[in-house]
Amino acid sequence: MGYRICRLPGDGIGHDVMKAAMIVMEKIPLDIQWVDAEAGWRMWEKYQNTVPDETWKALESADCCLFGAITSKPGIKGFLSAILQIRQKFDLYINMRPFKSYPGVSLNYRDDIDMVLFRENSEDLYSGVEFYPTPEALIDMHPRMERFKGKDVAVSCRVITREGCRRICEAAFRFASENGRKRVTGVHKANVIRLTDGIFLEEFRKVAEKYPQIETAEENVDAVAMWFIKKPEFYDVLVTTNMFGDILSDEAAQLVGSLGFAASANIGDKYALFEPSHGSAPKYAGQFKVNPTAMLLSVKMMLDWLGEKEWAARLEAAIAKVLLEGKVKTYDLGGVNGTLEMAEEVAKNL
Ligand code: NAI
Ligand code: MG
Repeated sequence: MGYRICRLPGDGIGHDVMKAAMIVMEKIPLDIQWVDAEAGWRMWEKYQNTVPDETWKALESADCCLFGAITSKPGIKGFLSAILQIRQKFDLYINMRPFKSYPGVSLNYRDDIDMVLFRENSEDLYSGVEFYPTPEALIDMHPRMERFKGKDVAVSCRVITREGCRRICEAAFRFASENGRKRVTGVHKANVIRLTDGIFLEEFRKVAEKYPQIETAEENVDAVAMWFIKKPEFYDVLVTTNMFGDILSDEAAQLVGSLGFAASANIGDKYALFEPSHGSAPKYAGQFKVNPTAMLLSVKMMLDWLGEKEWAARLEAAIAKVLLEGKVKTYDLGGVNGTLEMAEEVAKNL
């Protein structure tokens, strides 16, 4: 049985790294039908719609999606981020981001980092519930709003559901248990954001009880940001809400080299989308000079999700070998090679 995969390069270097992914996929003899689609800034310029109808159809017709990166610009009326819309429409509530220091990468902060962050992907401050309240509405909203009376106010809502907390914690513990991981750290700020992170912590504890063999830790997000610098090797699996996970994952990416190494999977119960964590890096667009590793590791995650474990393992081994040898490397690693040359080297080592 073959697979149908929606290929969505997006904007900027999304196209560069998608080409790199195809060089590697050509060497993997699976029966794959690629469905091409477009989304992002160029679609906004053309249609004032970042995800056109044909793109939704292409996404829906496929088993999963391989995504490059998109450009999002602030301050544009009516603009909705393509990736946020796709995550919400397909209910891709798990954002899984592994951070591993591969030997040979000169940018590694330490050589012994191997953590996997589970970020809730559908709620929190990214729910899109934002508004400018009128002075009267402001006071009706909450007695504590009294302090902001007469000021020019914008409100963004941190919407957190018990179900959302439960399912992301379940995903993290399930992964830890199935992959022989030792510890799951729940990251929160429940001492200040008492209600929303209160239910996150309650659900974290309930799920933890079902996995007595797994050690747990609960830490404040600001402390984790500090401990990532001081003692990153302590962390194994982490689970947190949307925005904390977004911020911590860029920090973690830097610990293992750069954003050029940060792969990610957006996973729901029936559908998934795989993408490098970096954005469209417009200044490098079309130059084929950025590091393809994050994209290639995202392809590895896609193969895992499809159940092609052996090819996933072989791809990761090939990437690790190329990084260790350091013969072919992009500018960010101090090399002179381009995106596609590095992908070809990985393909050769498969
Ligand atoms: P960015 O990740 O695009 O780039 C920041 C810097 O990181 C680049 O200038 C480059 O120096 C480095 N970098 C990124 N990817 C790299 C790679 N593969 N190899 C080597 N170096 C790499 O973030 P930025 O500049 O904040 O955002 C640019 C655009 O991307 C914005 O429009 C933003 O909204 C969008 N974005 C999209 C995301 C997505 O598609 N999921 C995620 C993050 C940002
Ligand atoms: Mg981010």
